[in-house]
Amino acid sequence: MKTLFNTTLSAMAAILISFNVSASGGVALDAANTDITDEASLQRGAKTFMNSCSGCHSIELMRYNRIAKDLNISETDMANNLMFNAEKTGSTIFSSMSEKDANKWFGTTPPDLSLTARAKGTDWIYTYLNSFYADDSRLYGVNNHVLENAAMPDVLWQSKQDKSEKAFNQEIRDVTNFLDYVSEPVKLIRYAIGVKVLGFLFILLILSYLLKKEYWKDVKYGKWRVKD
Ligand code: HEC
Repeated sequence: MKTLFNTTLSAMAAILISFNVSASGGVALDAANTDITDEASLQRGAKTFMNSCSGCHSIELMRYNRIAKDLNISETDMANNLMFNAEKTGSTIFSSMSEKDANKWFGTTPPDLSLTARAKGTDWIYTYLNSFYADDSRLYGVNNHVLENAAMPDVLWQSKQDKSEKAFNQEIRDVTNFLDYVSEPVKLIRYAIGVKVLGFLFILLILSYLLKKEYWKDVKYGKWRVKD
């Protein structure tokens, strides 16, 4: 019985691992270890995204003022320091690049990143951002282990050069975390409500138990007995 259980378990693990690998072109993915409740990380990620990614990538399903509200960034701070492509805080996050230019420069348009974290997962994004390597045969001199022949240049190379490995990993973890938040902004609310609901159920459990005790306190040995 035990061996059957073990065989089933290892077969399931093998299937899971092969899914993980096939989604990333044969590369095992690193764990992103992001934490959507870490507000400071999300704020840093938003900053990195606006500075280093929004020139090419849009997040069309998200508005600046929603980010400001969810991540506790003041709207003035948002308007002055994080909005490079739009005038109004109510605007969605579109990229500053036209489709025509993008096709000319990259042979493709940089995809909208609204739902990428849900489609590919945070581990994929994190590993992708850490997997650029020099390859002179490519237009921008780099290739990517996770997305073979990616048209995206290694936009964070300067940062990778200047920072310690730990600090750089944190930077890409933050931007991955931000993309995770963006792909499902209600996650923050969902988690908060989940905790409250569990708290409510716990209190209800205590009350129900006390009520049950009250109802049954006069019943002994299965027979109704009037209190003496
Ligand atoms: C100079 C333009 C440019 C910049 C800046 C840029 N990217 Fe990209 N990115 C691209 C292009 C082009 C692709 C499409 C690659 C392909 O399919 O070959 C891409 C693809 C991606 C993908 C894969 C999406 C998918 O579903 O396949 C992710 C994730 C991504 N970029 C994240 C980022 C992040 C995060 C930043 C900022 C740190 C960033 N990019 C900055 C041009 C850019």
